[in-house]
Amino acid sequence: MKNILCIGAGYVGGPTMAMIARKCPDYNVVVVDINEERIAAWQSDELPIYEPGLAELVKSTAGKNLFFSTDVAAEIEKADIIFVSVNTPTKTFGKGAGKAADLQYWEKTARVILANSKSDKIVVEKSTLPVRTADAMERILKTAPDGIKFEVLSNPEFMAEGTAVEDLEDPDRVLIGGHDTESGQKAVQALVDIYRHWVPEEKVVTMNLWSSELSKLAANAFLAQRVSSINSLSAICEATEANVAEVSRAIGMDSRIGSKFLKASVGFGGSCFKKDILNLVYLCETYGLEEVARYWEQVVKINDYQQSRFVANMISSMFNTVADKRIAVLGFAFKADTGDTRESPAISICKLLLDEQANVVVSDPKAIGNAKKDLAEYADKVEYEEDVYAAVKGAHAIAVLTEWPMYETLDYKKIFDLMEKPQFIFDGRNFLDHDMLYDIGFNVYSIGKAPKKHI
Ligand code: NAD
Ligand code: UDX
Repeated sequence: MKNILCIGAGYVGGPTMAMIARKCPDYNVVVVDINEERIAAWQSDELPIYEPGLAELVKSTAGKNLFFSTDVAAEIEKADIIFVSVNTPTKTFGKGAGKAADLQYWEKTARVILANSKSDKIVVEKSTLPVRTADAMERILKTAPDGIKFEVLSNPEFMAEGTAVEDLEDPDRVLIGGHDTESGQKAVQALVDIYRHWVPEEKVVTMNLWSSELSKLAANAFLAQRVSSINSLSAICEATEANVAEVSRAIGMDSRIGSKFLKASVGFGGSCFKKDILNLVYLCETYGLEEVARYWEQVVKINDYQQSRFVANMISSMFNTVADKRIAVLGFAFKADTGDTRESPAISICKLLLDEQANVVVSDPKAIGNAKKDLAEYADKVEYEEDVYAAVKGAHAIAVLTEWPMYETLDYKKIFDLMEKPQFIFDGRNFLDHDMLYDIGFNVYSIGKAPKKHI
C-alpha cells in the first residue's frame, strides 16, 4: 500500500484527498495541517468547510484509508507522494505587495519536507503558484543529503467551490506537469496511476512543468475575463435599455463562444480569481511585459467598478441618500452553496453602504460567521439575521448579492408588507422573477436591465 500525504487541510486539500481516498482504496491518505482547530474539525462531524456531498464523502473513508493529523514531520517521513496544498495568498508587504503571491507558507513547507525526509519522494504542487515555482522547490530540495531524491510535479486543482465534490468526481481534465527526464516521467506516471483509478485516460493530460503552472493561472484569468466582459456590457445595457441576459444568450449560442460564465453579476469573488490574475500581472511585470500586465489588470478593475457601480445605482435610485436607511443584504457568500466569503463582492458593497451611513442587516444561510469576521471593523453598525423575514422588517431596500435558490421562493408579498415604503429591491444576480416583484409593488433594479419602477 502506497502512502499519500497532503500538507494543507483547506478547501482544496480536504476534498481532493477525500476523493483520492474514496477512489483509491489501495492507497493510504493522510492530510496534515499546522492549524489544530481545522484538523479537529475534519475529525469531527462538523467539517471545517461546507460543500454539498463532502460530509458523506469524508464519512465513507475517514478512519479506513483517510486520516487527518497535525504531526506534519512524522507523516512526511512515511509518505511516498506529498501533495502540497497550502495557501498562497496575495502578498501584503514588501516587494510586489498587493499583486505577487506570498510564498512564505510554500517555502516553509519545502524546508519541512527537506528536514523530515529520509527516503525518495514525489512532491506535487497542488497549490496555485507563479510559473517556475517548482524550480525554487527543486533547488531547496536538492540540498538534501546524498542519496535522497525528490521529483517535483505540478498538478493544479480546477475544482470550484460549491461543486467541489462533483468537479473532483468528474473533472474536465487533470493536468500533470513534470520534467522530460527519465525520473520526471516516472513520477508523472505515478501520479497518472492515481487519477486513472477513476478519471478517463483522455482527460489526464501530461505536459511540461511550466506549461502546467501557467495553465492554471490562465484558466482562472480566462474565466474571470468572461465575467468582467459581460459585466462591462451590463453597464452599456443599463445606459441603452438593452438587456444583458438577452445579449448573453445571443453571444453564448455561438458555439465558438459557449454559454458558460456569461452571467452578469455584482462581480466575481472567491479566493482564486483576483489573487491569480494579480499573480499573473506581477509575473508579466517581472518579465517586462507591461502591455500584457495592463491587459489582465483591467479584468480586476472592471470587477471593482461593477461593485461600486452597483452601490452608486442604489444610492441614486433611493433619492441620493441611504443614510439611516435599513438595507437588507440577502446573501454574503461569494456564490451559492458555500459559506466562503473570501473576496465576496458583498464585503465591499456592505462597506460602501456603511460608509454612506446606511443601517446594514446581513442575512445568509451559511456565511454569517464569516461575514461577522469580514465586517469586524463595523461590528457595532451591522446587524445579522439568519431569518430573511426578520432581516427585511422595516427595510427600505433589499440587495440580493448571492444567488441562493431559497431566495427565489421567498414570500415576497409578505416581505413587501414588512418593508418601509417605497420598497426597493436590487437584484445583484439577475435571478429573481422581476415581473412578479414589480406586480407586487416593488421598484425592481437589476444588473444590465432597465429598472421597473412605480415611482
Ligand atoms: P486554505 O487557506 O483553505 O487552506 C490552506 C491550509 O494550509 C490552511 O489550513 C493552512 O493552515 C495550511 N498550511 C499553511 N502552511 C502550512 C504548513 N507549513 N504546514 C501545514 N499546513 C499549512 O486554502 P485553499 O483554498 O485550500 O487553497 C490552497 C491552494 O489551492 C491555494 O494555492 C489556492 O490558490 C489553490 N486553489 C484553491 C481553490 C479553491 O477553490 N479554494 C481551487 C483551486 C486551487
Ligand atoms: C474558480 C474556478 O472556477 C475554479 O476552476 C478554480 O479552481 C478556483 O476558482 P470558484 O472561485 O470556487 O472557482 O467559483 P466560480 O464558480 O468560478 O465563481 C467565481 C465567481 O464568479 C463567483 O463569485 C461567481 O458568482 C462569479 N460568476 C461566475 C459570475 O459572476 N458570473 C458567471 O457567469 C460565473
